[in-house]
Amino acid sequence: MRLRTVKVMALAVAFAVAMASGASLGLAQAKKKKKCKDGEVEQVASYQLAKGENIEGAINTSLTGKFGDSKTGLKWMVHRRLGNCIACHEVTKILELAKPDDLKSLKTYGFHGKIAPTLDGVADRYTEGELRLIVVSAKKAFPDANTIMPSFHVNEGFNRVIGDCKGLAILSAERVEDVVAYLKTLKE
Ligand code: HEC
Repeated sequence: MRLRTVKVMALAVAFAVAMASGASLGLAQAKKKKKCKDGEVEQVASYQLAKGENIEGAINTSLTGKFGDSKTGLKWMVHRRLGNCIACHEVTKILELAKPDDLKSLKTYGFHGKIAPTLDGVADRYTEGELRLIVVSAKKAFPDANTIMPSFHVNEGFNRVIGDCKGLAILSAERVEDVVAYLKTLKE
């Protein structure tokens, strides 16, 4: 091969590499932008606020018209972005799923915060409708507490929301129902 041909080829290769890395940079940026894509939703269900027995309010009918699935609810209880209830609440039943010799189960189920009441026996303390309101909007459920618990089915009124999570609720109506179904299993 003549030297000039080699030079041209080298240039072409360098160009291709630059394009490829540029493209992957673009891809990385696109990935970064898609941070809020665990199924957070724009749409929140409308509901009727009823009177509660143990707290002021309750939402007595399912947001979806269907029962949730408690097994799926457990998934959201421990999900780092959706729910993450165990960041604040200790739940013995979930702790029991953490096996000391299995790092994955330990990471998923093993680390509970102790900055909120334990959820053990919560189904004995609240009606289903009250549990639903607590998950949908803790601010409405505990109006006098200035609570630190997030409102999970609310899509407005937040400041400094990260990236494209703006205008989205953390839990969809269906996922709220799954969490409520799980909470209903927490009897003492
Ligand atoms: C940032 C912390 C935090 C997170 C995350 C959190 N909570 Fe709470 N939660 C609280 C606090 C604090 C209270 C007590 C109410 C208050 O503020 O006085 C509470 C109260 C409750 C109660 C009533 C408990 C009782 O015995 O009175 C339920 C039920 C509950 N939370 C469910 C959940 C569920 C389900 C999730 C996840 C989807 C969750 N919480 C996520 C902080 C949190």
